[in-house]
Amino acid sequence: MKAAQGYGYALVTGGSQGIGAAIALELASKGFGIVVTARSEEGLRKVCTGAAALNGGRAVYVVADLLAPGGVEHVTAFVRDRGLPLSCLVNNAGHAHWGYFGEEPLAAHLPVMRLNMDVPVALTHALLPDLQRGGRAYILNTSSMMAYHAVASMALYSASKAFVLRWSRSLRLELKGTGITVTTLCPGSVITGFTEQAGMQAMDDLARRFGSPPEPVAKAAVSAMLAGKAEVVPGVLNKLTHALQHLVPMRVIESAASRIYINRLSRRKAGG
Ligand SMILES: NC(=O)c1ccc[n+]([C@@H]2O[C@H](COP(=O)([O-])OP(=O)(O)OC[C@H]3O[C@@H](n4cnc5c(N)ncnc54)[C@H](OP(=O)(O)O)[C@@H]3O)[C@@H](O)[C@H]2O)c1
Repeated sequence: MKAAQGYGYALVTGGSQGIGAAIALELASKGFGIVVTARSEEGLRKVCTGAAALNGGRAVYVVADLLAPGGVEHVTAFVRDRGLPLSCLVNNAGHAHWGYFGEEPLAAHLPVMRLNMDVPVALTHALLPDLQRGGRAYILNTSSMMAYHAVASMALYSASKAFVLRWSRSLRLELKGTGITVTTLCPGSVITGFTEQAGMQAMDDLARRFGSPPEPVAKAAVSAMLAGKAEVVPGVLNKLTHALQHLVPMRVIESAASRIYINRLSRRKAGG
């Protein structure tokens, strides 16, 4: 398949719903061809239909569990076997597990590390030659505002997102002058299925009150990516909070953020 004039294809992980689906649609509206991947075929098919209506039909999906053995290789082979000219990689699929580190089984922590760190590293390493072949290309990695500070009860999640941020910024430096830019998206609370998959329904009221829908987050992410920016924190409130983090001592921020999560976790434990 040949690229239409303009952009080649963008591979978006976690593209069946939430932020990934919104990014895929935003990229399609800018003229990228779209490859979305996730486990649920129904969501992928819906996103593909929406994307195809925006970019003249250049939208395909590949069902894959990125945590299953061979998952990353399956997605890479899909892109290569179809000869899709890749000009954008969006590492967005992510997972959280809420609870105190020592109280939760190791088996609950490991997928957080694997999906949030191992998978984007493996996928980017595998597809970098493909991105380099096409001249100008983009990598967009979804981190979180939790990358900027520690949170009790979300230890591995915040650490994994800090990893994404630091790795992305280092990779960006390595790729300087190659035509490939790396942008890190650091959203605050976004109203998606994320709280449910992380067993964090006790945080839903806060997400509804302070969270953003995924569409403006995707718009800000794609705009920053196309401008070649290093990092984007979407939303005025998040930008203010982020700016405040440079003025307030880290221990104050970390204990305030942790208090919110710990209180809610106690409520969940009490069955409230
Ligand atoms: N929502 C927030 O408040 C928030 C804030 C900051 C950062 N983020 C980050 O944003 C990213 C997207 O999250 P979201 O809020 O859009 O959550 P979401 O609605 O739960 O979407 C997660 C996506 O990842 C896919 N996924 C999960 N496990 C997978 C696996 N094993 N293999 C392949 N795909 C998998 C899901 O699809 P299937 O279930 O179909 O596989 C889905 O498309 C994540 O990296 C998250 O950490 C979210």
